[in-house]
Amino acid sequence: MESNKSVSATTSNNLGKVIVKSVYVVAILIGLYYVVTIALPFLIISEDVYGSYFLPRAAWVFPHVVGGILATLIGPFQFIPRIRNNNIRIHRLLGRIFLICVMFAGLSSFYMAATSQVNLPYSIGLGGLGFVWLGSAIMAYVSIRNKKIELHREWMIRCYVITFAFTTFRLFQDIFNAWGVGTQEEILTLMSWSCWAIPLFITELILQGRKILK
Ligand code: HEM
Repeated sequence: MESNKSVSATTSNNLGKVIVKSVYVVAILIGLYYVVTIALPFLIISEDVYGSYFLPRAAWVFPHVVGGILATLIGPFQFIPRIRNNNIRIHRLLGRIFLICVMFAGLSSFYMAATSQVNLPYSIGLGGLGFVWLGSAIMAYVSIRNKKIELHREWMIRCYVITFAFTTFRLFQDIFNAWGVGTQEEILTLMSWSCWAIPLFITELILQGRKILK
């Protein structure tokens, strides 16, 4: 009877791991899709790509996009236990590059939010996104400098969920457009805060929920 219980616990544990891994892989593939289709073209500064909206701000957009792309691509490797456990030097190197990218992309995002021409709530929503991005990166860095590994892990998870807001934003923008819900301005304004506030709250439910159930 006891062994039946432990077999079913192991089975549901394994199933849980498979589900988590599948969600992780699908999310990364979606992220890659938006990086390739939306962000990568911005590595070529031209009228064609930037248009009259972004070209005058190219000096801010370019470092923002380079930092954003690198952070999006590096992040997933940092959460792979095998790399972290067997190759701590690579983990540290990638971690430093990731944090520098977030600093550059985050700081430039304040200027871009302040000069965007959608509306004030949109600027404030994206300004808030820049603030929590930089804030979580600093907390992750300070945690590890103080050897608080568990806190570092949690802040890095938050920081990557925020980095992923670029993808969340575009994904839901496409979904709302496909459904024909709201005007373009309404969708942009809604996504400027919901692309990070809602995923961050879900992350918190998981991080704190696990501790409560332990
Ligand atoms: C997570 C924090 C981020 C913040 C606060 C942020 C903020 C912004 C802002 C304010 C704009 C200008 C919007 C406008 O003028 O209407 C912008 C545009 C852009 N960002 Fe970010 N961004 C973030 C993450 C990223 C990431 C991770 C990437 C790359 C993977 C990225 C790539 C771009 C690109 C390509 C544009 C110009 C094209 C477009 O708006 O679709 N951003 N971002």
